[in-house]
Amino acid sequence: MSSLHDYWPEPIVRVQSLSESGSSVIPNRYIKPPSERPLVLSLCRDAKVNIPVIDLSGLNGEDENLHATTMNDISKACREWGFFQIVNHGVCPDLMRQMQSIWREFFHLPVELKQEFANSPKTYEGYGSRLGVQKGAVLDWSDYFFLHYRPQSLKNHNKWPAQPYPCRATTEEYGKQLVNLCGNLMKIFSQNLGLEVSHLQNSFGGEDIGACLRINFYPRCPQPDLTLGLSSHSDPGGMTLLLPDDHVSGLQVRKDNDWITVQPAPDAFIVNIGDQIQVLSNAIYKSVEHRVIVNSMQERLSLAFFYNPKSDIPLEPAKELVTPDRPALYQPMTFDEYRLYIRTRGPLGKSQVESLKSPR
Ligand code: OGA
Ligand code: NI
Repeated sequence: MSSLHDYWPEPIVRVQSLSESGSSVIPNRYIKPPSERPLVLSLCRDAKVNIPVIDLSGLNGEDENLHATTMNDISKACREWGFFQIVNHGVCPDLMRQMQSIWREFFHLPVELKQEFANSPKTYEGYGSRLGVQKGAVLDWSDYFFLHYRPQSLKNHNKWPAQPYPCRATTEEYGKQLVNLCGNLMKIFSQNLGLEVSHLQNSFGGEDIGACLRINFYPRCPQPDLTLGLSSHSDPGGMTLLLPDDHVSGLQVRKDNDWITVQPAPDAFIVNIGDQIQVLSNAIYKSVEHRVIVNSMQERLSLAFFYNPKSDIPLEPAKELVTPDRPALYQPMTFDEYRLYIRTRGPLGKSQVESLKSPR
């Protein structure tokens, strides 16, 4: 059966091939309107402002004060930033390094090998170079690989690269450790919101959650001030654990009217709240807009692990967080319905979660 989104609206061009062509100008399709262009110089402007960095080891020890302070730091970061870094999170640093090097190697394989995994907008699984199917859209300066890790029924190792050789096994182990870490964070968020410890997990569908990984590859760009690696968006799912590039910054987070360039801490994950936790928390936690800038000197690789609700159950604000003073801000919607929006229109700031607002 064919639907509107079985195919891309235009032939796919790999951004990596544009970058490698050595041209000193980028095609018009990648040139953003002036209001969206980054101020690349601001990268060095205020390197002291950063998103909070939180050491999770305080949650494992005997020290009750340290435990309480750590919980409080997380609570504050979720309310005020929607974005923070975690260190001592329990994921093996060697595994993190291996994932980065294996996936970097994947993007440097000959193009014919990668093309075997070329994706379509039907599922987005595989090797891709655009988000959204709007014909004539301005595109982002990046390629990616997208794969499903959960639910089990969607996980298919045959759709993951066979090369470089340990890719499947390493990605499998990485997914396992990250699902575990996300489950722990869900408990922490529930407790901090004053909900029963398994509230958020149960609202997500219990054990049957979704999880997927997008490996983003941002090739060098000859005109980085005219384009973006990834346009401003908020993540549609539950939460995201991002493993950024160790050497090349590029992620910017919106704070009021500024864009803060994240300075990654060693061996850290960047955690951000997605739209579905914003909805369940009745907007006590914010899913914050972010974007990626590129540069002319170095390519950049990031691994974004998305932890999502089961796709077919309606989500709405937790009853405990709805009061006469603070009525439910959102109407129930399933994640399947919700993500159609970004998959059709591509990244568009926070317009999607805003559109869910209940008529008041
Ligand atoms: C994403 C994302 C940021 C980055 O994949 O949703 O925001 O640094 N990535 O690549
Ligand atoms: Ni994102």
